[in-house]
Formats: sequence, structure tokens, C-alpha cells
Amino acid sequence: MGYKIILCGFMGCGKTSVGWRLAKKLNCPFVDMDKYIEDKEKMSVSDIFELKGEAAFREYERRTAKELMQLDKVVIASGGGTVLNSENVRAFHAGGGEIYFLDVPVAAIQERLKRDKRRPLLQRPDRREFIDKLYAERYPKYLAAADVIIDAGHPASYLARKMAKRFSA
Ligand code: S3P
Repeated sequence: MGYKIILCGFMGCGKTSVGWRLAKKLNCPFVDMDKYIEDKEKMSVSDIFELKGEAAFREYERRTAKELMQLDKVVIASGGGTVLNSENVRAFHAGGGEIYFLDVPVAAIQERLKRDKRRPLLQRPDRREFIDKLYAERYPKYLAAADVIIDAGHPASYLARKMAKRFSA
């Protein structure tokens, strides 16, 4: 079966850590969109934001979403902002992708992100308040984009095992 599994959700929800484990179990390629863009542009996401601006990053994301749908069997960890653009959601669906929202409560997200030094959007003094606000704004959009909602406040290995069962039945 050729499946294209796209994991979406807020920063820190586990898209990458669940994604590579799931791909391993399903014996298929794993692509982390941020990493894919970094490799292609030879620049970190932080540097892209700083030197080229967020709009340039969103454009790379848009191209990547289309490009990855050429693959026939893949697990993709999207970026926290990818499915907020309805064009990306359409590209995933048009390419035969299924979008899984990793739903993690904001308190757990806060805990996971409190010491983050890598994500450009979070390098600000009011990080806590910013995450609360952004989470509230984005939550309904993740729900709307999702084909499947996963209660994801659990360890990545457990979630990967549980999700893999859907595909090996
Ligand atoms: C972003 C999330 C990041 C990365 C970029 C923007 C966002 O990905 O794409 O920093 O807008 O939420 P992760 O969700 O993998 O951290």
C-alpha cells in the first residue's frame, strides 16, 4: 500500500520524534520538512528567518509540500506552521496524503519548549504568553486540516507503535 502520512501540530508536539519512529516501523522513508529545507537551502531555519524573512521560509515550505507528494510512500513531519496555509493542505490531499494532528495540551507544550534555543519564533522574552496565544489561534486550524486526530500527550515510542498498527492491519 502506498501511503503518505503527514504529521502536523504545534511546535514541540512530537512530529519529528514520532515521525522517524513510525517510518522505521512501516519501513518507509521519513522526511522532516524543516531539515529538508535546511539541506536544500544550505541554511538553518533560524538563518532563513533572520536573513531572508519568514515569508521566504513559508515559500520554501509551500514548494516542499508539493515536491514531497511526488513520493509514493513516506512519513512527513511538517513544520508547526505548514498546514496553516490552506494551499499546503490542498497539496497534501491532492497528492494522496493523509494529515494526522498530534494533539498535545498546551501545558505539556510549554514544558517541552521552555528551554528551546532553536526555534526562531520562540526567541523572545514573553515566550510563555506568546505560546499560549499562538496555540489558541492555531488549534482550530490544526483540527480543520486534520484527517485524523491523535491524542498525543504520550511518549513518542508508544504513539509510533499505536499509529503503525493502523497500517499493518
Ligand atoms: C514553525 C515551526 C518550526 C519551523 C519554523 C516555524 C511554526 O517547526 O517550521 O520554526 O511556525 O510553528 P517545528 O514545529 O518542527 O518546530
